[in-house]
Amino acid sequence: MQNEAIPFDPSQDLPALAASGALGGNVALFRQPRGPDLMRRAQPLDDWYALRMRHGVWPYNRRLEGAPGPLSTVEGDGLPAARGINFASQDYLSLSAHPAVLAAAMAALAECGPHSAGSAVLLGNSRLTGALEGLLGELLQCRHVVLFPTGWGAAFGAVTALVHGADHVLIDGLAHASLRQGAMAATRNVTSFRHLDCDHVRELLAGIRAMDSQAAILVITEGLFSMDADSPDLPLLQYLCREYGATLLVDVAHDLGAMGPGGTGVIGAQGMIGKIDMVIGAFSKTFASNGGFVACDAPSVRRQLQLFAGPHMFSNALSPVQAATVLACLRIVASPEGETLRAALMRHEVELRALLKDEGMRCIGAPSPIVPLWTGTEAACRIAGMLLARQQVFVNPMEFPGVPLGAARLRLQLMAQHTPAQIRRAAPLLAAAVRKAGTAPRPALAPSAQG
Ligand SMILES: Cc1ncc(COP(=O)(O)O)c(C=O)c1O
Repeated sequence: MQNEAIPFDPSQDLPALAASGALGGNVALFRQPRGPDLMRRAQPLDDWYALRMRHGVWPYNRRLEGAPGPLSTVEGDGLPAARGINFASQDYLSLSAHPAVLAAAMAALAECGPHSAGSAVLLGNSRLTGALEGLLGELLQCRHVVLFPTGWGAAFGAVTALVHGADHVLIDGLAHASLRQGAMAATRNVTSFRHLDCDHVRELLAGIRAMDSQAAILVITEGLFSMDADSPDLPLLQYLCREYGATLLVDVAHDLGAMGPGGTGVIGAQGMIGKIDMVIGAFSKTFASNGGFVACDAPSVRRQLQLFAGPHMFSNALSPVQAATVLACLRIVASPEGETLRAALMRHEVELRALLKDEGMRCIGAPSPIVPLWTGTEAACRIAGMLLARQQVFVNPMEFPGVPLGAARLRLQLMAQHTPAQIRRAAPLLAAAVRKAGTAPRPALAPSAQG
């Protein structure tokens, strides 16, 4: 069978793995295949996938058996299903297993059924989505909240609904694909600023305003960058936006609920709650559900989003079960229990970083639910991910397009319910895998989209 995995003996087979070609290449090579036949021209990509799969270094499309949790059963990497320590799921406060959240979801299912049965503008809303808009607005101190079926849709929808061709977008060079793709779809005037660099933002704003006083300018950043575990200076960015008549949009997908006083994320931690022009986010990391939102204080923006954000207008609304789940999570996030869960999460985070540092590892960013463990080359990242999966430690090896080429890393996402014993068991395994991966010979030349 073509995709059957080759049994891998880590003590002997690194040279053979490197020679196989499975460590070479990157997704960028396959992005725009040539030829007239749309149904066949991606064949080289499928061949590359099969090669990597055979050698156990294709870490995507794994399957979870049962619920996501600190210990999970995972099938993938060419291996049979195995139970192990899970740093690859997103459930920062472990709320997807919380009894009150499960009870709320089941009550909504019993009361309203499983389906919203319409877009938010065409009877897809329910009492539960209305309550969710209200509670989220309270947490963020924003008067208007618009819900979306996914976080991706909130980001893409907000940017494309608000920005048009004559406007400008300044976007952090490492911002999420949903924001970047939204910007590219909205206008050709898109400029990336150096990651977190407010001086660069100031320079670009001044340049645009020197030429054009009428165009709108949207400045886009994130509360917590999920591949780098770092955050911008929000007070300064908001000040610059005011000074140059621009609008600031902050995506808080990864920090809202999981960080900051009362779960207000990096915005709250920086004293900016209620002071950011536009806040967007996703429920999928801390609030145990698919879904996303845009929050702001301008009623006209709300109206504009409702009518012109495609994923709001032309996609089915959040289901009652999803809305009830997020509502229950929000109540916990804002309660003393939420503080306890965030404190547990932060303890694991600090301990894991300290243990990895003692092992000589390089973790980037600052304490947050995310620990990016640097590997640099894609080859090292693939090997380390594969070795860890064989020891039942599940992490997400991140390479292009999730991160820039040559900046690969293992991304570990922590949960409040990870235990200190799991953290202590995982740290030396993580370090050993990264060290071993660093000893691999240079990979054979990459295959390419042209075969
Ligand atoms: C910053 C950011 N925005 C938006 C999204 C999309 O959210 P979702 O996966 O819930 O659609 C993500 C998720 O990866 C993200 O990291």
